[in-house]
Amino acid sequence: MSKAGLQFVERAPKAELHVHIEGTLEPDLLLLLAEKNAISLPYRTLDDISRAYQFGDLQSFLDLYYLGASVLVEEDDFYELMWRYLCQCRNEGIVHTEIMFDPQTHIQRGVGLETVLSGFSRAIAKAEQDWQQSVLLILCLLRDLSESEGLQTLRQAKPLLEQITAIGLDSAEVGNPPGKFKQAFKLATDWGLRKVAHAGEEAGPEFIKAALVELGVERIDHGVQCANDPELVLSLAQAKVPLTVCPLSNVRLKVYNDLNQHPILRLLDSGVQVTVNSDDPAYFGGYLMANFNALERALGLTELQSRQLVRNSFTGSFLSEERKTCYLDQLQ
Ligand code: HPA
Ligand code: ZN
Repeated sequence: MSKAGLQFVERAPKAELHVHIEGTLEPDLLLLLAEKNAISLPYRTLDDISRAYQFGDLQSFLDLYYLGASVLVEEDDFYELMWRYLCQCRNEGIVHTEIMFDPQTHIQRGVGLETVLSGFSRAIAKAEQDWQQSVLLILCLLRDLSESEGLQTLRQAKPLLEQITAIGLDSAEVGNPPGKFKQAFKLATDWGLRKVAHAGEEAGPEFIKAALVELGVERIDHGVQCANDPELVLSLAQAKVPLTVCPLSNVRLKVYNDLNQHPILRLLDSGVQVTVNSDDPAYFGGYLMANFNALERALGLTELQSRQLVRNSFTGSFLSEERKTCYLDQLQ
C-alpha cells in the first residue's frame, strides 16, 4: 500500500495543539527527578513503570499522571521537562506547538507558579533562539476541583499572563460539566485569553455543546463523542470548530478498543476540522508521529487526508492569520 500520506506528514512542517507538558514526563526523567528530590514512588525501575502504565479509563491514568507530576519541584525540573519536549518537536518537524500545563497540580504541593513558568520560559526562549521553535502556553484548570479554586488560580496567574495565551479545562470529565466553570472562563475572556476545553472524551456530545455555548470555547480538546450525534457533527463542520483529537490516548484510555474503530477519518471526511495530537505521549506510547504512524497502520491515511490534517493543525491554532498563512504556504 502507498505510504505517500505518511511520508508527507513526516516531511511537512506541522503544529501540535493538544499536549500536556506533565504528560511528556518520560519514565527515565521521572525516576531521575524522584531520586534527586527524594520523592517516594511505588516504582523503582523502568519495568515497574511500564507494568503500572496499563489504564482502564481516564481516572486510572490521571491517578498516575498526578503522581508522576509530584517529582517536579525545582525550576530546573520544569526547564528540563519542557526542553526535552521541545527537542522532540525539532526532531519531528513540529514547528509550532500549543502546550497545556496544570498549575493547580503544582501549587497544591507548594510549588509556585513563578517557579513553574520560569523553568518553562527559559526552555522556550532557548528553543526559539536555537531553531525558531514557536510555542504558546495554555493554562488548564482542573475540572474536578471547585470553580472558586480555579478562580483563585487564575488570579494568581494574572501577573504572569504575558506568558499565557489561553485557558483550558482538563482532568476528570464525567460529573464535572463545562458549565461549572462559567465564571472562570468569563474572567479569562475579560483578560483577553483564548479558550479551549476538553469535552466529549469520556462524557457525551452534550459536554461539547455546553463547552461551546456556556464557556464560549474556540476549540474542543478530544471531542470524539460528537461522532454519536450526526447533527452536532454537521454544526461543528459548518462552524469550523477545530477538534484536537488524540488517537493513541483514546485507545490507551479505552475510549475505543482498537484504533480501527476510531472515528477520526470519518469526522475529517465529514468536513470537521480535526487535528492529530499526542496528549500525554510519555504515558500513551508515543509523540505526534507515533500517532500518525498508528493511524496509517490501523486506518490507512490517503495523501489528501494527511494534507488536510496538517493544514488543520495550523488553521486551528492560535497563531495570527499572517503566521498561519506563512506556515500554510510552506506546505504547497
Ligand atoms: N483528559 C483529561 N485530562 C487530562 C488528560 C486527558 O486526556 N491528560 C492530562 N489531563
Ligand atoms: Zn488532554
